[in-house]
Amino acid sequence: MEEMKITPRILNGIAIAEEIKAEVAVDVQALVAQGITPGLAVILVGEVPASQIYVRSKIKTCGELGIFSEMLTPSESITTTEMLALVDKLNARDDIDGILIQLPLPRHVNTKRLLEAVSPNKDVDGFHPVNAGRLQSGQPGLAPCTPAGIMEILRRSDLPVAGQNAVVVGRSDIVGKPAAMMLLNASATVTVCHSKTEDLPKFTLAADILVAAMGRPGFVTAEMVKPGATLIDVGINRITDPAEVEEFFPNDPERAATFAKRGSVVVGDIHPAAFAKAGAYTPVPGGVGALTIAMLMRNTVTAAKLRRGIAGEVFQEKR
Ligand code: GUN
Repeated sequence: MEEMKITPRILNGIAIAEEIKAEVAVDVQALVAQGITPGLAVILVGEVPASQIYVRSKIKTCGELGIFSEMLTPSESITTTEMLALVDKLNARDDIDGILIQLPLPRHVNTKRLLEAVSPNKDVDGFHPVNAGRLQSGQPGLAPCTPAGIMEILRRSDLPVAGQNAVVVGRSDIVGKPAAMMLLNASATVTVCHSKTEDLPKFTLAADILVAAMGRPGFVTAEMVKPGATLIDVGINRITDPAEVEEFFPNDPERAATFAKRGSVVVGDIHPAAFAKAGAYTPVPGGVGALTIAMLMRNTVTAAKLRRGIAGEVFQEKR
């Protein structure tokens, strides 16, 4: 008899992001009615094209949701001291609730010092050690946008987390570590794997929820995935080699057309062939990445509330 084939469920990040943005817009209106307009300041240093695109998109979304925004664009030659002064001014401004320093910064700028200079209550990226500590101890605060987006996808798709084996591959401060902490707060049994992990498949094969966030194109292959697992692909890797495109996307006229037009296609950290084995998965593009800006908007509103002592978000997921 032929093996029974179940069609994996595609978790549509774009639709979930739209849902969250609509909710944020309602929240913004409620604050505006109380005389509070949430405000976001974005600092974009120099002229990195990818960063310019991201920042433009963040500013545009603010406008759509009724959030005040301000873009600061110092030149590439700005010093750490000058940047610190800029952040201090924003920390002190009452009309600014969120401060986002677009990364990466030029090499001569001390990124760590700057991220720690942002007031924790205005830290809408959730990168400040104080917010990492709040997340760890289940206190109200601001959580990093990408892992917060992962939790929203799971929750809004009614995928169970409590009691599930969640394996996070990648241990960055921005994604892997906070994702592991949030999954733990939601009562998953969490394992964090990384580049030094021995026998990675031993862990990934036990994963009911597999989060791939190591930044290596198609690294998680079908043989590493438990049938029926939920696959969360955080990777956004641009590939330009035609042989690689063919390897990742054989018989895929849509990708071939994209490649012909743009000279590149994106692939996640999970090999596309692995998705066929999943119960549910986030596509790339259109999965986790689609939520980052929605979560930034939500953090900006949360920051506006936090700073005024209006009910804050609590990290501890209630399930
Ligand atoms: N650069 C790429 N992604 C991000 C992000 O989420 N936040 C900031 N500040 N910079 C980025």
